[in-house]
Amino acid sequence: MAVVDRRRGRALRAVLLLLATLPAATLAPAVGGSAAFLLEEDMTILGAVGSAAKVGGGKAQGSANASGTRPGGGGRYYLGWKEEIAALAGRPELAAWLRGVRRRIHERPELAYEEVETSRLVRDELAAMGVGFRHPLARTGVVATLGTGRPPVVALRADMDALPIQEAVEWEHKSRNPGKMHACGHDAHVAMLLGAARILKAREHHLKGTVKLLFQPAEESGCGAKRMIEDGALEGVEAIFAVHVSHQHPTSVIGSRTGALLAGCGFFKAVIRGDARGQRRRSADPVLAASSTIISLQSLVSREADPLDSQVVSVAVVNGSAGAGGAAEPLMVLGGTFRAFSNASFYQLRRRIEEVIAAQSRVHGCAAAVDFFEDESFYPPTVNDARMYGHVRRVASELLGAGGYRDVPAMMGAEDFSFYSQAVPAGFYYIGVRNETLGSVHTGHSPYFMIDEDVLPTGAAVHAAIAERFLADHASLTGSPSSDDLVEQEL
Ligand SMILES: *[C@@H]1O[C@H](CO)[C@@H](O)[C@H](O)[C@H]1NC(C)=O
Ligand SMILES: *[C@@H]1O[C@H](CO)[C@@H](O)[C@H](O)[C@H]1NC(C)=O
Ligand SMILES: *[C@@H]1O[C@H](CO)[C@@H](O)[C@H](O)[C@H]1NC(C)=O
Ligand SMILES: *[C@@H]1O[C@H](CO)[C@@H](O)[C@H](O)[C@H]1NC(C)=O
Ligand SMILES: [Zn+2]
Ligand SMILES: [Zn+2]
Repeated sequence: MAVVDRRRGRALRAVLLLLATLPAATLAPAVGGSAAFLLEEDMTILGAVGSAAKVGGGKAQGSANASGTRPGGGGRYYLGWKEEIAALAGRPELAAWLRGVRRRIHERPELAYEEVETSRLVRDELAAMGVGFRHPLARTGVVATLGTGRPPVVALRADMDALPIQEAVEWEHKSRNPGKMHACGHDAHVAMLLGAARILKAREHHLKGTVKLLFQPAEESGCGAKRMIEDGALEGVEAIFAVHVSHQHPTSVIGSRTGALLAGCGFFKAVIRGDARGQRRRSADPVLAASSTIISLQSLVSREADPLDSQVVSVAVVNGSAGAGGAAEPLMVLGGTFRAFSNASFYQLRRRIEEVIAAQSRVHGCAAAVDFFEDESFYPPTVNDARMYGHVRRVASELLGAGGYRDVPAMMGAEDFSFYSQAVPAGFYYIGVRNETLGSVHTGHSPYFMIDEDVLPTGAAVHAAIAERFLADHASLTGSPSSDDLVEQEL
């Protein structure tokens, strides 16, 4: 299966290049000729060049409707978006620029809320392409705006922060900041979103509303998304989308799923004191209280949770003493983590962890305080809205061909994109960066993490198409049909 998909990924790049190198006048006939053998197997992107044939998701038809009239709809609609976006994304100049941007960011990784240089690079590039933006939000964040300036408004998000990891990959553009590395691909996320800005700028006249591009700080820690929302990044926004690179899928293959995609993830630290009211009581033993607490916490998942609703509660740190001999303070510290896939289960776990710690401490005459680090590392589950998931799948399948999209299982990892998905309908998806020849097979957060940079133009194109089509489809709801959704209605 992987072999098939890799072949398709390569075909897309070949086609993007092909489109880019042909002069406009010769594009239609030249591509029309080559489309025959590519269309069926690999590509649907070419099928409609020079005509208004309905293509997409492997459903290419021989028939063409040059008028673009939607049956029953009555309005005219535009069908050339796939070819035009692919052509813009396929320009070698864009690919080279994307690589350059990504490498500059990769060389200068910055941790949460310290993305000063990265933020400046983003603003410089936006200014150079004539795209307006707001800054700062959430300290280093930037929100760029394209389109009509009127509703509907759709948002795309990239995270900018790196990790406190020493890069172990030896290459020309290795991190120059000791102990810091873009080991999660956020450098590629920024580059792809800037690439989308360039594509959307070139197509601004096609935008039936406003696109906001969110460049946010502090995804890995610090809840940057939450700060962005507090600073107004989602004002007027009706839907939001974001991509994350993945070493699990071949280069440029898109993956997503409906509903819960990533777990909610929280941490807790409980301090259990034996001298509850400033007074030591002989019976108040924090070691015993901590022991009972640890045992009771186990039953939250084993006895309270629905076995079909995956959850984790894990105590990972135990520290302290009973204050023997009066030398040390009678105090125990428990540290742990919890995960769940639904918002309700996640908040229920948080509530029950706090209750169990407090109650078990009280049983033993102790007092407990629990900290959930809600400003630093408290990420609700990332849940895809069914319609936004459908939109991602439809646009990716149309743009890249059916082999360019796959449904993927949920994972226990967490993302602060969940704060957006709690606020507005959201679609989160992966884009593959796996290429065994290059060695881009390591998981995120590994010091050996690397990407296949060929992913960058495709990522920019998918971003741009998702936003543009969202606006067009939204406009179509209010009277001006604008897409070939009718043949693709799944959700
Ligand atoms: C992997 O990368 C190499 C070098 O860029 C390229 O030649 C090859 O086509 C890529 N393989 C796949 C499966 O994309
Ligand atoms: C093509 O257009 C005609 C009207 O010109 C319409 O009756 C027909 O349903 C359209 N076919 C498709 C496949 O959209
Ligand atoms: C355990 O507590 C001691 C004393 O407060 C502290 O020095 C040490 O860092 C703690 N260890 C852990 C793993 O929290
Ligand atoms: C998630 O649960 C919390 C706590 O019950 C609630 O405040 C929040 O609105 C919920 N979010 C969604 C998207 O349901
Ligand atoms: Zn990460
Ligand atoms: Zn990440």
